[in-house]
Amino acid sequence: MVDNLLSRIEELKRRKGAVILAHYYTLPEVQAVADFLGDSLALSIEAQKVEARTILFAGVHFMAETAKVLCPDKKVLIPVPEASCSLADGCEAEAFRRFRARYPGHTVVSYVNTSVEIKAQTDVCCTSSNALKVVESIPAEQPILFAPDRNLGAYVQKLTGRTNMVLWDGACHVHEEFSLEKLLALREEHPAAEVVAHPECRAYITAVADFVGSTAAILDYCGRSDAQEFIVVTEAGILAEMQRRYPRKRFIPAPPDDDTCGCNNCVYMKMVTLERIAACLENESPEVVIDEQVRRAAERSIRRMIEIG
Ligand code: 13P
Ligand code: SF4
Repeated sequence: MVDNLLSRIEELKRRKGAVILAHYYTLPEVQAVADFLGDSLALSIEAQKVEARTILFAGVHFMAETAKVLCPDKKVLIPVPEASCSLADGCEAEAFRRFRARYPGHTVVSYVNTSVEIKAQTDVCCTSSNALKVVESIPAEQPILFAPDRNLGAYVQKLTGRTNMVLWDGACHVHEEFSLEKLLALREEHPAAEVVAHPECRAYITAVADFVGSTAAILDYCGRSDAQEFIVVTEAGILAEMQRRYPRKRFIPAPPDDDTCGCNNCVYMKMVTLERIAACLENESPEVVIDEQVRRAAERSIRRMIEIG
């Protein structure tokens, strides 16, 4: 069954002249059909280099939107348009406009985990890979409004010592759920293991981590560290890539507060299945469509981020 779908997708990609970009958090079988696999920054950069006329984005909605903003002449297909993100959902355009109005003169920095309407109201975007660099590129005396992830914002604030940063009160349903108590117990069981965590986790988790970084930064760190075991405090989909890259090392997923909820998995990323990808390629639909004025405004803030690095 899976083999049939895999070969059907390969055939459809050839016939439709399409490439598949996928995020590391997608299901392992979805990662297997990707032409390019990456974190959100790498995927935004890769989207611009794609020569094919059609991009199928295996990931959540805001990621496909970012690809469309950067490649307006390409057809960007989104197999599961309802695959959203807790951060993007928790930052609605009108509420954000009202929030901004309370802080005139602030430079607006938004995490890419937002809708295109938020990016259009943003001065410069960031991802978890470059949030620190983006904030440091803004003069120290210039106040910042950072949205929507309060944990990433607080982490950057701690590293920069910046007090002139206002944070939107948003969080990710996966990264907020990790239990400190269970993490410490797991570390006792594996004393040689290093703890690696995503900056979307709460401050009490990042405070005990040996390394904090974006998906790509965590992957690189696990390669260069001498440790042979890692407790991974981020979305569990990344474990497939870790094991592929470093087959001799051991990766242990950190438990969420409620062990039965499976909530170290992003429910939205896991909605993207091979069946939906095949149907989307076959029908060349659903496709991402963005109002041109909004797209241009959003493009400015994304390109500014890419220039910073
Ligand atoms: P990355 O920027 O590390 O890819 O993270 C995206 C994301 O959605 C984290 O939950
Ligand atoms: Fe959004 Fe969290 Fe899923 Fe990342 S893991 S896409 S931040 S809901």
